[in-house]
Amino acid sequence: MLNRNFLLGVLAAAATGAFAQDSGSENIRFGNAFSLGATNSYIIEAETTLYTGKTQSGDTPRLALWPGMGTDQGQLIQAIVLGSTDAQGAQCGGKPHVNGQWCAFASALQNGVQLQGNTFAVNSNQDKYDQASGNTIQTVSVEGKTVSTLTTKSGKAIGFGTAEEAQNKFKGVVYEHSYVNTTVVLAAADPQFASTLVKNGATGNLVTKDNKTFKVDKITIAQYSFPASV
Ligand SMILES: *[C@@H]1O[C@H](CO)[C@@H](O)[C@H](O)[C@H]1NC(C)=O
Ligand SMILES: *[C@@H]1O[C@H](CO)[C@@H](O)[C@H](O)[C@H]1NC(C)=O
Repeated sequence: MLNRNFLLGVLAAAATGAFAQDSGSENIRFGNAFSLGATNSYIIEAETTLYTGKTQSGDTPRLALWPGMGTDQGQLIQAIVLGSTDAQGAQCGGKPHVNGQWCAFASALQNGVQLQGNTFAVNSNQDKYDQASGNTIQTVSVEGKTVSTLTTKSGKAIGFGTAEEAQNKFKGVVYEHSYVNTTVVLAAADPQFASTLVKNGATGNLVTKDNKTFKVDKITIAQYSFPASV
C-alpha cells in the first residue's frame, strides 16, 4: 500500500485535475520542489515557515505555493499561499485583492474536494507564514498569529513536500523563496526516510540524529518560469 514516491504520486494525481481550489481549475503544472516520503511509519508533526518573497510576475490566474503532506489514504493536506486576483485571492480576508499580496489559508484536498479554512492577506517581502500540521489539525499563522485552521480526517501523513503550482492560463516567473526551520517528526524511526528526499530546483540540508525527527534549517526553492499555457 505504501509507495516510496507517494507525495509525487499525489502530485501526479493532482495533475489529472483532482486538485481544484474551485470549479474551473485546469492545466495544472508544477515547478520546483523539495519532497520527502513515503515513510513506512507516519508523520506525527510537521512545521515550517515560508518566506514567500515577492509575488510572481504576471497576475493571470492562478499561482500557488504550498507545503503539503500526502497521506496513506491518498489525501493531501496543504497550507496554501495564493498569488492571484481571482477566487479566494479576490476576497482574501473579505477584502479585495491588492496587487503584490499573497492570500494564505489552511486547506486539504479530500476525495477530490478542496476544503479550506479562513483566508488572510499577507504582504510580500515582509511575510512570515507558519504552518504546523498533525495528521488532522492544520494551523496557518502569520507573524505568530493563527489566521486559518482546518481539521480533516485525511489519514496518516506519510510524505512531506513543497510545491509551486500553476493553474489555468498562468504564465510568469515565480521568484526564489524559502522554507525555514522545517521539522518533520515520525511516529517511529525510519532508517530509509532520508533516502526518499528529492530536490528539484531546491537546496537544503536534511539532518537527523535518530531517523525519527528530521530538520532542514533552510530550504531554498529556485526561481521557476512557467511558460505560456496551451
Ligand atoms: C529558526 O530557528 C532558529 C534557531 O532556533 C531561530 O533563531 C529562528 O528565529 C527560527 N526562525 C523561524 C522563522 O522560526
Ligand atoms: C539512520 O539511518 C541511516 C541510514 O539507514 C543509518 O546509517 C543510521 O545508522 C541510522 N541512525 C540511527 C541513529 O539509527
